Amino acid sequence: MGFLVSGTHLHITTWVIALVLFFIAALAGKKLTGVHMGLRLMYILMIISGGALFLEYRSAYGMNYDMKVLFAILVIGFMEMILVRKNKGKSVTVFWGLFAIALAVTLYLGLSSGIGSKF
Ligand code: HEM
Repeated sequence: MGFLVSGTHLHITTWVIALVLFFIAALAGKKLTGVHMGLRLMYILMIISGGALFLEYRSAYGMNYDMKVLFAILVIGFMEMILVRKNKGKSVTVFWGLFAIALAVTLYLGLSSGIGSKF
C-alpha cells in the first residue's frame, strides 16, 4: 500500500474535496442529501489516507501526530453537527466557531510537523 504513505498529496486531496462539499452543503439554502452523502464518503477516504500516514510515521514524530488526528476527528464531528442541525432547523452558530478553531488547529499541526509540506 505504498501509495498511501509515499507522500501527503492523496490525503490533502481527500480533505480539500471534503471541505468543498461541506461548504456547498452548509451554505446551500436547502437540504442537499447527495452532497452530504459524498461528504461522508470523503470522511472514510480521509480517515484511510490519514490513518495510513499515522501508522507509518507516528513512531518517528510522536505526540504532534496524535494531536493532529484528534483535532481532525473533531473537525469531522463539527461538520456533521453543522449539517445535521442545519437540516433540522436548529442553531449552528456555536458549531461554526468550534469548526473554525478545530480546522485551524488541524491545518497548523498538519503543516508544521513531520512529513509533507512545511511552511
Ligand atoms: C478535516 C480533516 C483533515 C484536515 C484538514 C487535514 C489536514 C492535513 C494537513 C494540512 C496535513 C499536512 C500535509 C503536508 O504537510 O503535506 C495532514 C497530514 C496528516 N494527516 Fe490530516 N487532515 C485531516 C484529516 C485527517 C484524519 C481523519 C487523519 C487520521 C485518521 C489524519 C492524519 C494525518 C497524518 C498522520 C498526517 C501526516 C502528518 C504530518 O505531516 O503532519 N488527517 N493533514
